[in-house]
Formats: sequence, structure tokens, C-alpha cells
Amino acid sequence: MDYENRMVSNEYLPEDDGDNPLRPQTMADYIGQTKVKENLQVFIDAARLRGEALDHVLLYGPPGLGKTTLAGIVAGEMGGTLRITAGPALERPGDLAALLTNLDSGDVLFIDEIHRLPRTVEEILYPAMEDFAIDIINGKGQGAASIHLPLPRFTLIGATTRAGQLSAPLRDRFGVVLRLELYSPQELAQIVTRSAHILDIPCEPDGALEVATRSRGTPRIANRLLKRVRDFAQVISDGIITGACARQALDRLEVDELGLDMVDRRMLQAMIRHYAGGPVGLDTLAAVIGEEAVTIEDVYEPYLMQIGFLSRTPRGRIVLPAAYEHLGIEYTGQLTL
Ligand code: ADE
Repeated sequence: MDYENRMVSNEYLPEDDGDNPLRPQTMADYIGQTKVKENLQVFIDAARLRGEALDHVLLYGPPGLGKTTLAGIVAGEMGGTLRITAGPALERPGDLAALLTNLDSGDVLFIDEIHRLPRTVEEILYPAMEDFAIDIINGKGQGAASIHLPLPRFTLIGATTRAGQLSAPLRDRFGVVLRLELYSPQELAQIVTRSAHILDIPCEPDGALEVATRSRGTPRIANRLLKRVRDFAQVISDGIITGACARQALDRLEVDELGLDMVDRRMLQAMIRHYAGGPVGLDTLAAVIGEEAVTIEDVYEPYLMQIGFLSRTPRGRIVLPAAYEHLGIEYTGQLTL
């Protein structure tokens, strides 16, 4: 199965977006990520006291945890406009220059997947971040002239699933580096309750918790499951999301009690049956389940590690006893080669 089509994919889909009414607009409405929120609030307050732009911020962590949402909140708190782009969309230096020269003082430029910025574009970003200026070469050969363009004081918010893949010069130019963590089921239940209220879906606390525990620590998945569970509630129940209704709906969507779907189960089963539970190298694993290695690292593994089903070791991935128990396979101990 394509992971983009999974019910529990944390990949961004058009339906998640746009003027998504579920996105919190203020820090007060943003649930979870307490440490990140508290620190960010201090930096925002300090910048405002000094009448300066907020220092550049790097947000990293698995997809679907609310990096874009946080960028929007920061822009709102700083009284600026949020401009959104992504690393792969900026193909040439001119693409970034056009964005930068259209910013106003106090604006927030959000670059998603900043680790995928082409090198030539990244080089424009250095002086932009450091000196709030860019140098553009106009013309070719003898007649070429360098134009120095000052930029307004803006804040760059970079987002990445993998801070380790950022070049050192880029990473070093962020004054604030914050790591987003997977959410607890309790936090996700609060988010589901809030979203249900906004969408006008009657949802009992048990129903919210059921959706939350099957959402892999990820608000984007929780909100998506909530909408599908609502469909079941309206058609097979009386429109109210109860615990029983949510359980039945999610079972039918093949999302199990812990949020695993067929792909996760197949991956773990293959590791157990063909490799005695590991260690299995990442590339082998990718070949076995027909996914890209980066997808496994960014999308599947963070949650499986968080729930204690999988461990990354220098020699490869290992399935842990809790996963055997969940899959109903007897644990006979790992092979120690
Ligand atoms: N919707 C998505 N993420 C959220 C969050 N962290 N808090 C509140 N609502 C959300």
C-alpha cells in the first residue's frame, strides 16, 4: 500500500488545509508541545519588548505535529504576515529572491522541508538571514553587475523532519532550534474534543480518547480520523461519537487499538518471520516493504519507537517484545549474532 493513501498517513493532504478551521490561531488555543510553546512565548515577548523581529527559528520533528500552525501563531503574535513555501518549490535563487524582496518588516517566511533546499538557493539565504540583504548578479560576463538589495527585518521559520540533514552553516544561522515531540493520548483527546466542537460533531470523552489513542501521537491523523469516524457515527450510529462507535469505525478502517495499520503490521511481521526480529538494516527493510528508506525513518519509525515496538541500533532495527505481544506472536528472544 502506498503510504500516502493510508488512513494513518501523517502526510499533508489538500483536505487538511487551506483555511483549515481546526488550526489554532493563538498560543492559548494550541494544545500540547508545552516546552516549545513556553520557550517560544518568552522569545516572542522579548523580541516585542525590544521592538525587534524574532530571531530565526528552526522547528524539527515528525510530520503532522503542527509546525506550520506554530509559524502562523508566531506571525500573528508578532503582528506580521505568514508567507509559506517549501524547499523543493524553490528551484532557483531567483525564486527565493522574489519572495524575500516582497516581505514586509516583521513578516514570517516559513520554509517547509528546508533540508531539501537546493545548494544555490541556500547560499542566498545565508546573507538574507544574517545581514538582511541579498546580492543579485545581473547580466553575464563583462557586463555583469552585482546589485546589493537590503531586506526588511523578517523572521525565517524553517521546518524539517530531519535536523541532521541540514548543512552546518544553515543550522548555525538559526537562533532558536526547537524539537516537536509526538503528542500524548490525553493531549490528542483534547485536540479531538476541540476539533469536534468546531466541526459541530457530538463527541463523548470516550469517543475522543478512542480516536486519540489510535492517532500515532499526531494531530493531523487525529483530525483526519475524527472526520471519518463522524461518517460512521452518522450512518451506523445516531450521529454521536461514543467510545463504542469510534472503536467500531476505526476497526473497520483497519486502524488497530494502537493506531497501527496493515503496513506497520506487515513490516513488523516480516522482520520477525524473515529476520528473527532483527537487527535488520534500513535498506533491507525498505526493500522488504517496498517503501523508501526516508519514509520509514520519518513516518513509520518515530511512532513505533515511541510505543516501544522498535529500536534503532547501530546494526539495524530490532523488533521489541511488546510488538510480539501486540501481534500475538510468541517472543523467543532475539538472535545475538
Ligand atoms: N489542531 C492541530 N494541532 C493542534 C494543536 N496542537 N492544538 C490544538 N488544535 C490543534
